[in-house]
Amino acid sequence: MVKDQLKKSVGWAALQYILFSRVIGVGTGSTVTYFIEALNSVKDKIEGVVSSSNHSSNQLKKLGIPLYNLNSLHELDVYFDSADEIDIHMQMIKGGGGALTKEKIIAAAAKKFVCIVDSSKQVNILGRGPVPIEVIPMARSFVARELIRLGGLPEYRHNMITDNGNNILDVYNMKITNASLLETKINNIPGVVSVGIFAQRRADIVLIGTKDGIKTIIS
Ligand code: A5P
Repeated sequence: MVKDQLKKSVGWAALQYILFSRVIGVGTGSTVTYFIEALNSVKDKIEGVVSSSNHSSNQLKKLGIPLYNLNSLHELDVYFDSADEIDIHMQMIKGGGGALTKEKIIAAAAKKFVCIVDSSKQVNILGRGPVPIEVIPMARSFVARELIRLGGLPEYRHNMITDNGNNILDVYNMKITNASLLETKINNIPGVVSVGIFAQRRADIVLIGTKDGIKTIIS
């Protein structure tokens, strides 16, 4: 099965974790695009959505699915999003689409994080690809030098301004032996808005689209 079909199947499989008559959190990316398509089929049964990006908000608006501001909610039951990489501990790298900061906020606010991925996203150790980092524009070079001190090779993502008006550095060559520690270290560099390592807030449920069907992992 081609990757797109796996993304679609996992996007639709996630519907089973929706709590009706509630607001749900929704992430960003090509897998989530399929999830939103699936969500449209039950839109009359949910209250609405808190979205992690302008891209997802636009898709939701077009479908007539009500959008909520996170500040207006006392609690959020569940957040659905994909990942660029996920390991056996349900730790992830996210931010390929540049929406990592709002993704991190909504994931932290939600009681449950349901991660939907195709099998190509599974890794033994995080760091196969780059770690995206959202940075305040005036701090970009300083943060890049600090990341080199940590052993990384940062690359400025040209032609990309985040929804929050910031820049993205994609950091290659990171040795991620302790993802949670590295998440803290990078978060502590002044100028970093957030890092795409999701180790401190991992997924609670992972749905993996494989050629043999959907595999479910629950923490
Ligand atoms: C968006 O910023 C990312 O965190 C995405 O969730 C992640 O990159 C997965 O995207 P795809 O579903 O497009 O692979």
